[in-house]
Amino acid sequence: MSIAEVDQRPHFDPRAFRDVMGHYPTGVVVVSAMVNETPVGMVVGTFSSVSLEPPLVAFMPMTTSSTYPKLREADHVCISVFAHDQMQACRSLASKDPEKFDKVGWTLSAWGAPMIDGAVAHIHGRITEEVEAGDHYITLVSVDDLAVDRGVTPLLFFQGGYGGFSTTGLSAHVDESLISAVRLAEAARPQLDELAQRFSCSAAALVQISSLDQTIGATSYGGSTDADERIGVRIPLIPPLGEAAVAWSPDQVTAWLGRIFPQDEAVLTYYREALTRVREQGYAVSRINHDPAGYDELNEALAEWAGAELTPARDRAVRTTIAQSRQYFGCALDEVDTNIDLASVVVPVFAPEAGEPTNSGLVIRLGNLPSGVDAATVREWATALQEAAAEVSRTLAGPAAKDYRRYTAAGLRSA
Ligand SMILES: Cc1cc2nc3c(=O)[nH]c(=O)nc-3n(C[C@H](O)[C@H](O)[C@H](O)COP(=O)(O)O)c2cc1C
Repeated sequence: MSIAEVDQRPHFDPRAFRDVMGHYPTGVVVVSAMVNETPVGMVVGTFSSVSLEPPLVAFMPMTTSSTYPKLREADHVCISVFAHDQMQACRSLASKDPEKFDKVGWTLSAWGAPMIDGAVAHIHGRITEEVEAGDHYITLVSVDDLAVDRGVTPLLFFQGGYGGFSTTGLSAHVDESLISAVRLAEAARPQLDELAQRFSCSAAALVQISSLDQTIGATSYGGSTDADERIGVRIPLIPPLGEAAVAWSPDQVTAWLGRIFPQDEAVLTYYREALTRVREQGYAVSRINHDPAGYDELNEALAEWAGAELTPARDRAVRTTIAQSRQYFGCALDEVDTNIDLASVVVPVFAPEAGEPTNSGLVIRLGNLPSGVDAATVREWATALQEAAAEVSRTLAGPAAKDYRRYTAAGLRSA
């Protein structure tokens, strides 16, 4: 049966087709060529090895693609397999921007086709055959030469999002970033114990372990609090979360604000003002206000984020819930405010010997606090936290200097 004879099923649901196919991941390549001395190329997920004898690979361009007819006319094409860290290059080349090749590094191959710098592998060949298949072609490329130029893991595409490959083999490796975070957080141990006892609450030290998240590195419980804050739990640095962790680092603020989607100017202004308030008062509070149910929803989303590698679809759902919880954060406390229910008070530990106050990567947080308090009580907690943070900062310059050096040398915050 030829492809043209495949029967059209009645009541066929295209959404179901997309949804089901979305459960199958692909790698990502760019097929490129020089046309009239101009580089052209299209990003495809539909790349596959076809035959060894003779050597053939294939990809499937849309029949409506404006780039494909140009590739078809070229003598040679080069297929570059994107590496896990080339998401930006992939995004640029998947656009219709005529100057997109100016935004990525590339070199001309011996056959005169553009090879993307930093790609895992390059496959050089000629388009030799094409089969029309519904709204796509199946295009065969006869391979002339090929090489792995950078033996790193490839970029993957799954459910509309990019990711990387990780093994599920038996050799579980120890997470170095977590170890360095726990060592750093232990510098705050005496202060956490003291604060938790004094205010009958939970106290935790949170350490930034990548540009995108922090982890709970140390905890202490006072009084009868039944708090359950687990070491190693990841907390994303996505607005509104993590204000105190980023507010005193301009680079981190830019990255943090960059995670707001869409980049709505009113929302950006809201967050810039919230950060200014946090810097002015020296601490960040999250206030449960009159909607504890909404706050529970946020906590569920955070538990999901912390618990496992999320699929892109769940990741989007969790990020949406986080983004919708901004009313709880960056709050100003009015002088006359009473009956306040706080989820947390967070203050930064400033980098030792930095001159200007600068985030060190470490913050300390009080949680499970008594409810229905007045603004003066909140300020008392915040002042005690700030004094404790200043002591921790001195510890980072003194007894814990080695751990702090190791932590900064690991470059986790700019990862
Ligand atoms: C991850 C990813 C996979 C893609 N896979 C294909 C594909 O297999 N076939 C295709 O025709 N377009 C694919 N596209 C779309 C093209 O890269 C690109 O957007 C399109 O070719 C641009 O339109 P143009 O060819 O008219 O310039 C993919 C895009 C992305 C981001």
